[in-house]
Amino acid sequence: MKTFTTLLALFSAVGALAAGGATSQPRASLATVYYSCVNNKEAALTFDDGPYVWLYDISKFLVAAGGKGTFCFNGNNWACIYDTASQNRVKYAHAHGHQLVSHTWSHPLSFDQIHNEMWRIEQALERIVGVSPAFLRPPYGNYNNLVRQVAKQRNQSIIMWDLDTGDSLGASVAHSEKVYSDAVAKNPRNILALNHETYSSTAETIVPYAIKLLKSKGYQLVTVAECLGGLAPYQWTAAPQTPSSFESNALIWIPWIPI
Ligand SMILES: *[C@@H]1O[C@H](CO)[C@@H](O)[C@H](O)[C@H]1NC(C)=O
Ligand SMILES: [Zn+2]
Repeated sequence: MKTFTTLLALFSAVGALAAGGATSQPRASLATVYYSCVNNKEAALTFDDGPYVWLYDISKFLVAAGGKGTFCFNGNNWACIYDTASQNRVKYAHAHGHQLVSHTWSHPLSFDQIHNEMWRIEQALERIVGVSPAFLRPPYGNYNNLVRQVAKQRNQSIIMWDLDTGDSLGASVAHSEKVYSDAVAKNPRNILALNHETYSSTAETIVPYAIKLLKSKGYQLVTVAECLGGLAPYQWTAAPQTPSSFESNALIWIPWIPI
């Protein structure tokens, strides 16, 4: 807690400096946190922890249903995002209209180096597909006012969820399917669902089940930005660059430079 407070003071000081020392900005300017969609009869399926091998199948199921999803990418979790295979997955998701969201660089539990953790994945998405994400999915859904403050400084909103399949917690396929069917049975206005693209059972079984169920009840499968009333998914877009996987090797050393 003491560390958080110290860091908070530090970031406030940096923020004040960046604003030219003026104190017109409120100290605690916090990012908006969304737990649910806004639009009626829309479901936003989100997929954390990729880009991973099952991304292609998840995308195909969504596209076949006339839908889109939201992928919350890490920079270096299961694999490095600058690896050719990872870059191809990011490009594929973007090309198929899915929304790309920051899930931090290395999926840390600690709030140390928080700017760095956010900045590095944003930079990767900017380089690989030319988008600057407007949304952050915090690792483990874990956030405090420091995270909200930094996200706000980075012009991002935080997205949580109102349905957790439990796939990353070792839930059985039957359990995850029941989470969806129990939710849909209550005729919710909308659904914002947490899934992980790193499990074949999610990609091959739970996602097709959820899509079929949601479509049969008249829900459109949309991105998070769309279901929030049509917000911009990205802060800006630009022409992609062609980063080599070598670039990540240089980047990996950045945290070790004392600054
Ligand atoms: C902040 O993000 C919004 C989209 O969420 C964008 O319209 C706006 O231009 C961004 N501002 C800056 C300074 O990048
Ligand atoms: Zn995660």
